[in-house]
Amino acid sequence: MASRSIRLAVIPGDGIGPEVVAEGLKVLDAVAQSHDLAIERETYGLGAARWHETGDTLPDSMLEEIRGHDVILLGAVGDPTVPSGVLERGLLLRLRFELDYYVNLRPVKLYPGVTTPLADVRPEDVDMLVVREGTEGPYTGVGGVMRRGTPQEVATQESINTAYGVERVVRYAFARAASRSRKKLTLVHKDNVLTFAGDLYQRTVRAVARDFPEVSVDYLHVDAASMFFVTQPGRFDVVVTDNLFGDILTDLGAAIAGGIGLAASGNVNPTGDAPSMFEPVHGSAPDIAGQGKADPTATILSVAMLLDHLGVPEAARQVESAVAADLAERQGGPARATSQIGDAITKRVAG
Ligand code: NAI
Ligand code: MG
Repeated sequence: MASRSIRLAVIPGDGIGPEVVAEGLKVLDAVAQSHDLAIERETYGLGAARWHETGDTLPDSMLEEIRGHDVILLGAVGDPTVPSGVLERGLLLRLRFELDYYVNLRPVKLYPGVTTPLADVRPEDVDMLVVREGTEGPYTGVGGVMRRGTPQEVATQESINTAYGVERVVRYAFARAASRSRKKLTLVHKDNVLTFAGDLYQRTVRAVARDFPEVSVDYLHVDAASMFFVTQPGRFDVVVTDNLFGDILTDLGAAIAGGIGLAASGNVNPTGDAPSMFEPVHGSAPDIAGQGKADPTATILSVAMLLDHLGVPEAARQVESAVAADLAERQGGPARATSQIGDAITKRVAG
């Protein structure tokens, strides 16, 4: 009998979501066996199809059911047949706010053998962890519109930053920096223009830094940080930043680390009051859905993050090593289907 059972909620979602999630689950099942974990899995059919059928995106009762799990694996949501924003706000952002995912974790790591668009960088130059704030900033939906559709239209979209919200994400980022070998934290903001929010972040970082004397602290404006992501990625270790800057910077991060098909993420509630949710950074990729072309690697690396979060780091490293070995062998080989990549990584995990 397995020594530990884990209640997993799975939201495959739309487009390539179900395709990549299937491969992530193959790998999870294989690694669970060798680590004495029993995965109790419940699948939730949320996304475009449900919205067309019922008109709802996430019923309260389903949210409560999902809340009862230990952890969540999500594919991606979004479909061209659904108006933009309906599923993003009604499902994804709703989960992020209701389950209080104040840490959006996005590692940017270049694995050996992976092609990067940057010339002359080595894998050891690109190994950072972006800690993006997940519940505040301009994503809260605060704001409004008046005189819509007229030449006098006014639209506001407020950036909300609370002392409480900034402190908790900054503290988390410091703790992560302290646990890494380089122990460096870079705050990214735009405090010369966004003076109120930027000042709150700056003062918070200075205050929390006193509790982490071993961590060195740096600051960059977001525009300069974008440049250095490309020209000097080696200067970053842990990056802490607001919701919007983090969203944009991590797509850039994904690009320099080999592409969106490899970028994993975690929506984390570090208090443990709600299940954290792991998902590839990419979307539902309607352009390649149903063709077996999607790379499931980002989802499989998200499974590794999920295992780390559950406190099974040996299992997480096993998945990561299997991915690294597969990536190293991929170069120059023929293109493989989604399930072939999943099978190859599963075989390495199992063997
Ligand atoms: P996308 O990430 O779905 O696709 C961008 C490009 O990357 C496309 O050319 C796609 O084919 C390619 N791509 C993405 N994932 C890939 C993979 N695993 N393997 C190979 N190629 C891959 O972003 P896009 O096109 O802006 O959005 C499509 C839909 O996804 C929209 O409805 C959007 O709102 C939604 N979306 C959902 C997210 C989520 O569920 N967390 C995140 C981002 C977008
Ligand atoms: Mg994004």
